[in-house]
Amino acid sequence: EFHLAPKHVAFSFDGPFGKYDKAQLQRGFQVFKEVCSACHSLKFVAFRDLEALGYNEAEVKAIAKQWAIKTPSVDPATGEASTRDPVPADHFPKPFANNVAAAAANNNAIPPDLSLMTKARHHGSAYVYSLLTGFQDQPAELLKHFPDAKTPEGLHYNPYFANLNLAMAPPLSAEGQVTYGDGTKASVDQMAQDVSAFLTWTAEPKLENRHRAGLATIIFLLIATGLAYMSYQNIWADKK
Ligand code: HEM
Repeated sequence: EFHLAPKHVAFSFDGPFGKYDKAQLQRGFQVFKEVCSACHSLKFVAFRDLEALGYNEAEVKAIAKQWAIKTPSVDPATGEASTRDPVPADHFPKPFANNVAAAAANNNAIPPDLSLMTKARHHGSAYVYSLLTGFQDQPAELLKHFPDAKTPEGLHYNPYFANLNLAMAPPLSAEGQVTYGDGTKASVDQMAQDVSAFLTWTAEPKLENRHRAGLATIIFLLIATGLAYMSYQNIWADKK
């Protein structure tokens, strides 16, 4: 295997006390909405789930309006699926009519659904961050030894991707590609961290509950251990 392990990057949700930073999740959602959603869906996330990031019902409705939901019926005029306005219970839809259209637009690769991407890859949050910030020219050394490994036309070299060459062009390439509402400077690194955090939330919206339950369990077990030790001493007290 020639690809690199993900970079080290610190997130607010790391560790047993880790929590999501809602402002960061909102920024990450903005990156998803304005950049990634052109090619990627979030089939396990409903618009109304965004309320967990701090958006109210009216905001969720306004956000949902920016997508169109395909219906099973076909518009006879165009031959394409008819669309309707989304409701908050709809999920983030696929941007292409079907896989053939998706592959045709992306050098034969179908952009995968991103809902569970941070769970599907090892160290997923750091992986997505590394992938987004890892596009580069192929090292001369690699080409010298393996001339056949030259990145094919239309693919992009990225040492964090297992195949080394992927069909996605660098989606985050310029500072200020999005304009953050909270005034945070939108460097490529910042946008990559924010959207990785957002995609961690889509894959594990209940992370904070899991951390809380884990902590409560550890505390309970410590107390139970203390009690067990005390009763052990008590039971054997007169046998010494
Ligand atoms: C693949 C993330 C924007 C097209 C992927 C993968 C991730 C990802 C995590 C999977 C890599 C893997 O399989 O390990 C993102 C993020 C984006 C974004 C976070 C926004 C910041 C886009 C855009 C396009 C696109 C705008 C289309 C213009 C693709 C394609 C693949 C892909 C075609 C499949 C690549 C292959 O298998 O060779 N993306 N993406 N992505 N993405 Fe994106």
